[in-house]
Amino acid sequence: MSDVIEFRKVGAVGVITINNPPANALSFAVVKGLAEHTTACMNDELCDAVVVTGAGKMFVAGADIREFNMTRPDDVPEFHDLMKVIEEGSKPIVAAVNGIAFGGGLELAMGCHYRIIAPGALVGQPEVKLGIIPGAGGTQRLPRLAGVETALDMIVGGDPVRAEEAVELGIADELAGEDLLARAVAYALERVADGPRPTGGITSRLGAVDPQYFEEYRLKIAARTRGQEAPLECINAVEVAATKPFEEGLAHERDVFVRLRDGDKSKAMRHMFFAEREVAKIPGITKQTPVQKIEKAAVIGSGTMGGGIAMNFANAGIAVNLVDVSDEALTEGLQKIRGNYAGSVSRGRLTQEKMDERMALISSTTSYSDLADTDIVIEAVFEDMDLKKKIFGELDAACKPETILASNTSSLDINEIGAATSRPDKVCGAHFFSPANVMKLMENVRTAAASDETIATLMKLSKTLGKTGVLVGVGDGFVGNRMLHVAARIAEFMVEEGALPWEVDQVIYDFGFPMGPFSMNDLAGIDVRYSIRQEQLKLYGDRRQSVILDRVYETGRYGQKTNGGWYTYEGGSRNGTPEPIIEDIIVKTSAELGFQRRPFSNEEILERYVYALINTGAKVLEEGLALRASDIDVIWHYGYGFPRYRGGPMFYADLVGLDKIYDKVSQFHEDYGDWMKPSNLLKSLAGEGKGFADYVVSS
Ligand code: 3HC
Repeated sequence: MSDVIEFRKVGAVGVITINNPPANALSFAVVKGLAEHTTACMNDELCDAVVVTGAGKMFVAGADIREFNMTRPDDVPEFHDLMKVIEEGSKPIVAAVNGIAFGGGLELAMGCHYRIIAPGALVGQPEVKLGIIPGAGGTQRLPRLAGVETALDMIVGGDPVRAEEAVELGIADELAGEDLLARAVAYALERVADGPRPTGGITSRLGAVDPQYFEEYRLKIAARTRGQEAPLECINAVEVAATKPFEEGLAHERDVFVRLRDGDKSKAMRHMFFAEREVAKIPGITKQTPVQKIEKAAVIGSGTMGGGIAMNFANAGIAVNLVDVSDEALTEGLQKIRGNYAGSVSRGRLTQEKMDERMALISSTTSYSDLADTDIVIEAVFEDMDLKKKIFGELDAACKPETILASNTSSLDINEIGAATSRPDKVCGAHFFSPANVMKLMENVRTAAASDETIATLMKLSKTLGKTGVLVGVGDGFVGNRMLHVAARIAEFMVEEGALPWEVDQVIYDFGFPMGPFSMNDLAGIDVRYSIRQEQLKLYGDRRQSVILDRVYETGRYGQKTNGGWYTYEGGSRNGTPEPIIEDIIVKTSAELGFQRRPFSNEEILERYVYALINTGAKVLEEGLALRASDIDVIWHYGYGFPRYRGGPMFYADLVGLDKIYDKVSQFHEDYGDWMKPSNLLKSLAGEGKGFADYVVSS
């Protein structure tokens, strides 16, 4: 009947196997096939029971997310109708959960009358991570099997549980031995005498839950889920399960699922799901591209960045040598690392044993001669081209010919650094974000001479370190910082012209960023931004530069580290309060620059900041520094906290409409001069009525 479903009879048991690689997702064809085969089994007099399972390593990874934007063909049942066919089946139907059962996969299993699960399988309702609630009965059936509290945790949190726990929680009936299918078939026959056991009819675990429990749950997740709708809707739907009849609960779930699925926030989160997977796909690099083994690493520079990078290797079980110019510097660097791990141990996030294991993987040296057999070296010294060239030259002489030499520079030309070695094909950038042991992003920089093998190794390394590696080209600030510097400058200009830092920050925070540009500046250090700006002055002295930054820098208020910057941080607090001295300086600076201060609406602040990001992102794409618009979105989400439910700057731009953004950026161009010139790509896509998603970078 369908090529994504295999059917066979084992005695009197019909075995329906979903075979829809790579994820056995519930596509239209699978849903149709499942309904048809189930009905056929119910009508087959020689069939006493049914087993539903998945081919390969997965049971079902969920509904087919790619089809969410498509119209369901008329002959394909809705998810709820498929579940109804199964649940109301007149013969026992057993799910044999052979591997991952996520989202619609777990819902399918729960729609069946019984569940046998293989050791190692995982079950979960991760829909909330896609900005939706479960839409095939999950919010109603999971509380009936596992109880309201567990269902809330699983549906609102979105994290899976392992097979053994699924049995303990009541989600599955039995943990299978070695042969899942044989056991499921036998189990199905054993259940023939009992008949079907529809999950919707189970009420024993629903219990009476205090309404206050749901209220407290809402409060508990409020800060963590700011700006999102799905988490609250998950709670609402489970509350309906606990308080209303089953059919009413299903109807509620269906309505909310459809509304959220068709909304922008879920579209953005689905975009991010695929964007994160796309970053790994690099033209010219295939599974056949050789990848070097990374068993020994070294990090040059034992400061905060170098130490954080070294921790990443140790966390991944890779031996790492920390290198610095003196024993004192190394002792201090190692102490900082130990302190970081000890903090995790005291918070209960790491065991002492694991900490000891990780510390044992970190050695230290002041001599490059100890690095001869190292597989990769990451240089993380301060931003000085001559120093970096000297270090790379010395590393080149000290390390074996295969060693990859990577720089963590956030701004310097790595082509030039590579030219200081005899192995430019093995030189690349590995740009970690601070704090390097926490932030998930790595901008992996491809130099002109880097070999495919070097790049493939670097991309694989990111994965091994638990990072999201995004390949970028060599250019001022690469992708992320290049965009950030433009937006930061615009924010400073707005302050010079009439806005206040806390007004700008509030708008950016309300948009969904973890903090606004001025709070971020206080966190990273005003002195740091000042020195970046001095470099920018050398490169682009002809542009307007913000004077207000100089004025704040001159006060010696460098941010949180001096208990005051744009804000004041009383008693070492991390929450700053607006500072009148700063407001005074701002007003004086506006007068000094000849600006008649004017109010900025929230809308204007947002547009200036975010459209400046987008226009620079378009330039980055045009110049080929990023492979795709969605790669920029991934960088901005993981590197700078662009809210996932807005999908990154380039996706957001497509939602707003490029014609609108082009018009606004053209106006900024008039205000600020050529550096805010609209990108040609933005102009042409806007003219053609297209979006960044339509743009394919030619390789
Ligand atoms: N729909 C469509 N494609 C899917 C998919 C899905 N539900 N799940 C995975 N895929 C695709 C991926 O896009 C990828 O495609 P590609 O090879 O073309 O890039 C391929 O399957 C393999 O996926 P991964 O690279 O992620 O493989 P992993 O082995 O690392 O991870 C996984 C497997 C844990 C299943 C992970 O893919 C995953 O988390 N998938 C999504 C699970 C999910 O969110 N399910 C809920 C969907 S919504 C739903 O079910 C609604 C329902 O309530 C009605």
